[in-house]
Amino acid sequence: MEINVRKGDLIDQKCDVLVVNEFLGAKETGGATGAVNEALEGRLEKIMKEEKFKAKLGATLLVRTNGEIPAKKVLLVGLGKKEEFDFEVVRQVAAVTLKQAKALNAKHVVSILHGAGAGELSARDCARAMVEGVKLADYTYSKYKKDELKSPTLFEIVSKNGRDVRNAERGAEVGKLMASGTIFARDLVNAPAHEMYPEALVDSAKLVAKGKGSIRVKVFDNEKLEKMGANAILAVAKGSEHAPYLVHMIYKPTGKAKKKVALVGKGVTFDSGGLSLKPAKSMETMKIDMAGAASVLGVFSVIDQIAPKAEVHGIFAAVENMPSGGAYRPGDIITAMNKKTIEVLNTDAEGRLALADSLVYSCKQKPDYIIDLATLTGACMVALGEEITGFMSNNEKLAEDIITASEIADEKMWELPLEKSYKKLIESDVADVKNIGGKWGGALTAGLFLQEFVNEDVAWAHLDIAAPAFAERVINSYENKGATGHGVRTLIEFLRQI
Ligand code: BES
Ligand code: ZN
Ligand code: ZN
Repeated sequence: MEINVRKGDLIDQKCDVLVVNEFLGAKETGGATGAVNEALEGRLEKIMKEEKFKAKLGATLLVRTNGEIPAKKVLLVGLGKKEEFDFEVVRQVAAVTLKQAKALNAKHVVSILHGAGAGELSARDCARAMVEGVKLADYTYSKYKKDELKSPTLFEIVSKNGRDVRNAERGAEVGKLMASGTIFARDLVNAPAHEMYPEALVDSAKLVAKGKGSIRVKVFDNEKLEKMGANAILAVAKGSEHAPYLVHMIYKPTGKAKKKVALVGKGVTFDSGGLSLKPAKSMETMKIDMAGAASVLGVFSVIDQIAPKAEVHGIFAAVENMPSGGAYRPGDIITAMNKKTIEVLNTDAEGRLALADSLVYSCKQKPDYIIDLATLTGACMVALGEEITGFMSNNEKLAEDIITASEIADEKMWELPLEKSYKKLIESDVADVKNIGGKWGGALTAGLFLQEFVNEDVAWAHLDIAAPAFAERVINSYENKGATGHGVRTLIEFLRQI
């Protein structure tokens, strides 16, 4: 599907579906929608009345044009209340449009630029949100089951206002990159663990770097990990047939880098729980446990086009957590790369172990910021529900920057405390720290555990994406069931802000 922005008058557009919009409770049909209504001799309003159409967010009404204008059909889509209108609404509405167009088997869709008129939002960011909504809604994981519906071949956003068109073109480019990075991550996460095993995740990193002069990749195998003393990563891998790897990607900007940023991901390609085996139900979705690494790869897949003014390091351990005669055990004590000792009491708290060494390695790169993303705890899902990432940071400025980026990207994130007094919950009798806390506050004790492996002088944030990385049911119109690619848009926005 090609998406573009073009100058033109909606009433002149020859297409299968022409998309117009309306606010809930609008007194009259104005603007471009009004012009279409007039060209249809008032039939749009007439049918709206007949059908008692309420322009609730995402509500739609389809009207045939009978040749009065070149478009075959007009699709009216509800924008909801004007007071509640924002870029997220634009994204959702664009997503609804795309799904309707698919259901109608439309090849060529022309849409009004939602929001730039009566919505009073910037044309640039409206187009960005529209492109994100359309592209993300169009995504399905179709490797093993083909999508029955065909995507349109052309989706055009059309406006009469030349300045809006120029701004929208720029926004659309950003939207395309945001969606493309997100979709890259979704594909990696949706791939089942029999094909997305550690080596395969390493190959994805190499593939991302291929042909991009600005990205270098270093891969550390078993032998090198042993030399480095990355025993926490090695311990997690012991039960698996697949050897672990530490992957380090480096993006260098063309000009002088303003900042050095490390993006660290949890890359557990399958989490069975190890000897502390998960119940069958909890294991069903555990192919998603590399979603943090996938988000980092999603960012790197478009990083040369984003061209941030920062040197960006993408770091993750690719490892599988399995039970076997060779697996690490509850009670084992391991010495991480920074020489801190860890008492393993639950082999299912493996993500923090793999991250421990990844974070120590990241600190050695002397970054200004470290942001880690991990499907780390069920407790974070309990705390914040299905849609919200819980994040913790040792630095107020970084926390603020992440909130800003997540708000622009419209990915929901909420700060949780790195509560010092809870450190006692991860004290061990026999080692420097243990890998589980008590019954309560599991997301926080996981964050405190990670902090043990981060130098105090580096600004670090930990994003627990356990809940929003994967949609067990459809939550909004641009995220179907399955992997969401959550985090990619926020990270890209964060890098753009530097
Ligand atoms: N990968 C899981 C966390 C998870 C749960 C992610 C559900 C996505 C959905 C993690 O490795 C884990 O098993 N965490 C344990 C920690 C516990 C043993 C302290 C958990 O949350 O139960
Ligand atoms: Zn686990
Ligand atoms: Zn896990």
